[in-house]
Amino acid sequence: MTILLLGSGGREHALAWKITQSALCQKLFVAPGNAGTSAIATNISISPTDFGEIKKLIIAEKINMVVVGPEDPLVLGIYDFFKEDDFLKNIPVIGPSKLGAKLEGSKEFAKEFLLKHRIPTAAYHSFTKENIEKGFHFLESLKPPYVLKADGLAAGKGVLILNDLNEAKFELSNMLLNEKFGIASSKVVIEEFLDGIELSCFVLTDGKNYKVLPTAKDYKRIGEGDTGLNTGGMAAVSPVPFATPELLEKIENRIIKPTIDGLREDKIEYKGFVFIGLIIVDNDPYVIEYNVRMGDPETEVVIPRLKTDLVALFQAVAEEKLNEITVEIDARAATTIMVVSGGYPEEYEKGKVISGIETITDSMVFHAGTKLENDKVVSNGGRVLTVTSFGTDYQEAIKKSYQNINKLHFDTMYFRKDIGFDL
Ligand code: AMP
Ligand code: GLY
Repeated sequence: MTILLLGSGGREHALAWKITQSALCQKLFVAPGNAGTSAIATNISISPTDFGEIKKLIIAEKINMVVVGPEDPLVLGIYDFFKEDDFLKNIPVIGPSKLGAKLEGSKEFAKEFLLKHRIPTAAYHSFTKENIEKGFHFLESLKPPYVLKADGLAAGKGVLILNDLNEAKFELSNMLLNEKFGIASSKVVIEEFLDGIELSCFVLTDGKNYKVLPTAKDYKRIGEGDTGLNTGGMAAVSPVPFATPELLEKIENRIIKPTIDGLREDKIEYKGFVFIGLIIVDNDPYVIEYNVRMGDPETEVVIPRLKTDLVALFQAVAEEKLNEITVEIDARAATTIMVVSGGYPEEYEKGKVISGIETITDSMVFHAGTKLENDKVVSNGGRVLTVTSFGTDYQEAIKKSYQNINKLHFDTMYFRKDIGFDL
């Protein structure tokens, strides 16, 4: 089978690494990919949201399956684009329909879905500029901290958590009246603050059946001790040490099953990954967000722990036969630690030559923001590389990642040195 994978981050390098291990995959294209994917697959310089160019590539290269890494093409409706095209309609797209992708593309849609299907989540109301006064009153009725969420996609930046009521009112105005996050914040969800610990679970569904993948926890803040600005994610650990079998059972019964049943009940076509962000309060799970794709860098720990052939899983998703496959998971712990450009998540420089990658033999190095320039790997993004290691427990895995990160070098390189401090 010839497969096309869309995206260019560490998530896509990890997916490409796993896909190319399958005997079912004869050829893999990655659009646009990075220096890491170019070493194991064929990079094609096409944007994941340029559906017209993607169609031309599918025809020219006789591609049999499309795997979608990031959310943008899904929210823009790549699944429906294929379904509605005479030539493309029989080529499976691993990812939800446009309606399914609204679970990530609209916080309000996700909240309505959660409520309708009685899935535990924080209480909320949503507001637009027309009823902003009601928004102010609602804030007054809540206890701090105040949680404000831009309804639409805001590259992970659309959530504000504020301690001061006046600041919360100011930011609500900023979002609704001044388009702080562009049209993404023309509607704002205000939500009850949940005080607990976070973890994420990952599910692969064919719309009828589902398989639960390993749990993971990421480290979102740039600074040690979880301080400073939010990033796409600075590290991840899988499994999450505090996810006991009792908690996992609650998550499956109260969250995962009703989510998959809800999709079917609402006739939402969904053949792909569901990433459920949870907060655990007094041992009970609450959904804080849905993402309609795998996480990055969570993929870089979840996928290496998957022993089952990923392409066989995707085929089963396409054929709605996921119930016929057994998923095997490596019992070892995996951790990944991200190496970023100095200055990220604010301004940073690109084009720095990276050395030492080839000296790492007992960890996996996944490229996030890299490209080849005169046959040299250079930095090409905020998040640059991530080092994934296995261990009998997360401490051992973290230690190995740190040992190997020390073999890497590029000008301005930064990484967090406290991963696991909270576990
Ligand atoms: P989200 O983009 O919805 O995942 O939110 C980003 C981050 O904000 C989450 O990872 C949580 O740390 C935090 N957060 C979101 N919603 C809540 C909530 N209701 N209570 C407490 N923290 C929250
Ligand atoms: N690491 C969080 C995300 O992928 O959204």
